[in-house]
Amino acid sequence: TDTLTFLGLESSCDDTAAAIVRLTDGQPEILSSVVAGQTDLHAAFGGVVPEIAARAHAEKLDLCVEEALEEAGLGLDALDGIAVTAGPGLIGGVMSGVMCAKGLAAGAGLPLVGVNHLAGHALTPRLTDGLAFPYLMLLVSGGHCQFLIAKGPEDFSRLGGTIDDAPGEAFDKAAKLMALPQPGGPSVEAEARKGDPKAFAFPRPLLDRPGCDMSFSGLKTALLRARDQVVAEHGGLPRQIRADLCAGFQQAIADVLVEKSRRALAEYLKLAPANPGFAVAGGVAANQAIRAGLETVSREMGADFVAPPLKLCTDNAAMIAWAGIERFRSGAQDGMDLTARPRWPL
Ligand code: KG4
Ligand code: ZN
Repeated sequence: TDTLTFLGLESSCDDTAAAIVRLTDGQPEILSSVVAGQTDLHAAFGGVVPEIAARAHAEKLDLCVEEALEEAGLGLDALDGIAVTAGPGLIGGVMSGVMCAKGLAAGAGLPLVGVNHLAGHALTPRLTDGLAFPYLMLLVSGGHCQFLIAKGPEDFSRLGGTIDDAPGEAFDKAAKLMALPQPGGPSVEAEARKGDPKAFAFPRPLLDRPGCDMSFSGLKTALLRARDQVVAEHGGLPRQIRADLCAGFQQAIADVLVEKSRRALAEYLKLAPANPGFAVAGGVAANQAIRAGLETVSREMGADFVAPPLKLCTDNAAMIAWAGIERFRSGAQDGMDLTARPRWPL
């Protein structure tokens, strides 16, 4: 049998992660996947503090690697390569990961493969569902929102994306405005379930314009105005009205994502793919209303809809190990001159 076993490292935002993925005769398997979050470290600051994140990554990476190897029941000698997120992201964290990976690769005499974090997300549907190129991808998280056509392990074309906030960021800000807990996505979604999405009229930004670009910052402003008006009228935010506001806000985001997905699918289908596929990744893909809308439009347009399990949609190192395997198989490899890149468009 033909096998390839990679350790992956991820440290570009606020999750330190290590994972081992093995490809056996074309069949990938996740042997271990360790994710150590830092939410508690940043909670008091209302956002990720880059310096604190970098220090925590430097402290936790070794431990995550140890745990990933142990969980997989493997030693470094069983590996065929080390993959690491080399960007984009918070530079201190990315540097911690790249240095750790270089040390391991040099020490164990293994190939080193730098991975673009976004490529990690974008290649995940091949790890989980064996999706064939070319497929359409919607990356939708706290930091990203873009449509990509994945044509090969290093060949992506961008159809459009947000011109301001990412939807996850919008959900997080909405939660703050509604005095709901962070992360905002899940708490706004729970609140929205109790509300009427039609009670308040929210805009559907950029739907009147052609193309796949999106905008979400205006929705946040609309929510702020609506809230202030309610508070002025009622002397506070009544429970039912808060639920209605959340429902309207969420529906507006879902409608924009669904309509833009329809356009992206139409563009993608012009390539006449043999097995059309539409995959979604990122934390916002956890939202049931959004997910259901994307699934429906995908079915209507005749593409298979793929939503990887949530823990593989959010930041993790299995996707990095896998992207490393894909790059390595296409002949790519990096040297000790691999650098950490804060910005790195696909
Ligand atoms: O992919 P992710 O874990 O991290 C990055 O941003 O890279 O995504 C986190 C984002 C947060 O903004 C969070 O509020 C949002 O995903 N999110 C959701 C839901 N669960 C998480 N947004 C809407 N609905 C949800 N159920
Ligand atoms: Zn990510």
